[in-house]
Amino acid sequence: MADRCTQGECSKNEVKTPNSYRRNTHILFYGNCVMPALAGDLTVFLVTAMIFEIDPRIIGPDELRADPKLAEAADLTYETSQSGVRAMLPCALSYVPVSQVIPSATIAGLARRVSTPKSSLRDRVLAKQFAPGVLRGQVEYLFDVGNWSQYFKSEPGKVYGTMLMMLQLPFSQGSVHIPPKSAAGPPTMLTKPVIDPQYYGGEGGGVDFDIMTAGQKFAAKICSTAPLSNIIKSRVFPPQQGATADEEDFTDFVRNFTASDWHPVGSCGMGGSAGIAAGVVDDRLRVYGVGGLRVVDASIMPLQICAHVQATIYAIGEKGSAMILEDRRVGG
Ligand SMILES: *[C@@H]1O[C@H](CO)[C@@H](O)[C@H](O)[C@H]1NC(C)=O
Ligand SMILES: *[C@@H]1O[C@H](CO)[C@@H](O)[C@H](O)[C@H]1NC(C)=O
Repeated sequence: MADRCTQGECSKNEVKTPNSYRRNTHILFYGNCVMPALAGDLTVFLVTAMIFEIDPRIIGPDELRADPKLAEAADLTYETSQSGVRAMLPCALSYVPVSQVIPSATIAGLARRVSTPKSSLRDRVLAKQFAPGVLRGQVEYLFDVGNWSQYFKSEPGKVYGTMLMMLQLPFSQGSVHIPPKSAAGPPTMLTKPVIDPQYYGGEGGGVDFDIMTAGQKFAAKICSTAPLSNIIKSRVFPPQQGATADEEDFTDFVRNFTASDWHPVGSCGMGGSAGIAAGVVDDRLRVYGVGGLRVVDASIMPLQICAHVQATIYAIGEKGSAMILEDRRVGG
């Protein structure tokens, strides 16, 4: 979002922002000041999806998609009583501290790997999540009916349930960039950005990987515990390889089948006390080094917040619009 769109700086097609930016940050203007992308660091939730075959009497969205008569009946139930399958939300969910998923000695080892003198400031801040006594919901578990995995192929006639596991405070950090000028010309508003989420990259990414692998055992345990286990026939993806979750090894599964659970933040992070060396916007959401330009969205959050970001984005929107009005009153 750009305020005061008529200023001179905005008339160029592309502005390379000051060299003091930590990463190669570009701002792209199209026409007179539309900004489709400001490039920088990117953090997303990491997710895996285990699939279970469940009680065939349970009807979920997959069954409605496969059977128009069922879908019609569900629509009618919803229209007359606002209930039934159409009113179902994935509400079996929990945010679990890593201390409940991983033994404390293992956590201490993870913390050491990301809090060395050589670790980045970001990693050292994130490593505080491992301090004894810190209870944050670092791993989200969500069970819902239906096959949610892009990697698993449903068999017709079977009913599935999915256990999603999402890492809320990942160290893995990727990037989003405006692509360079190509043979077709310079990038425009319609050019797709280049997105590289860098799952499990670097030392911190290795820590994410170990949490996801251990967390997968916990996911399997939840699903083998009553009452949830009462509706489960068997695990089909990945197929069970041991009598108990503790005997299973999920490293290959996590390595091969991690996906993005979206909630992207961080590409225009607030620089804080380190200013332009650490971020793209200041504490009033103004882009460093460019007059008349603010960013008011999830990208200004330097880190994830152990929750889905929607409510926080509303707050950013309200604060941002109040700041814009305040500054207009003061500065004209
Ligand atoms: C399983 O669900 C995912 C997500 O909705 C979908 O992409 C995939 O195609 C499904 N598989 C089948 C075969 O239904
Ligand atoms: C993961 O991928 C590797 C390499 O392609 C393969 O050998 C292995 O069987 C896969 N594991 C799973 C659980 O799919």
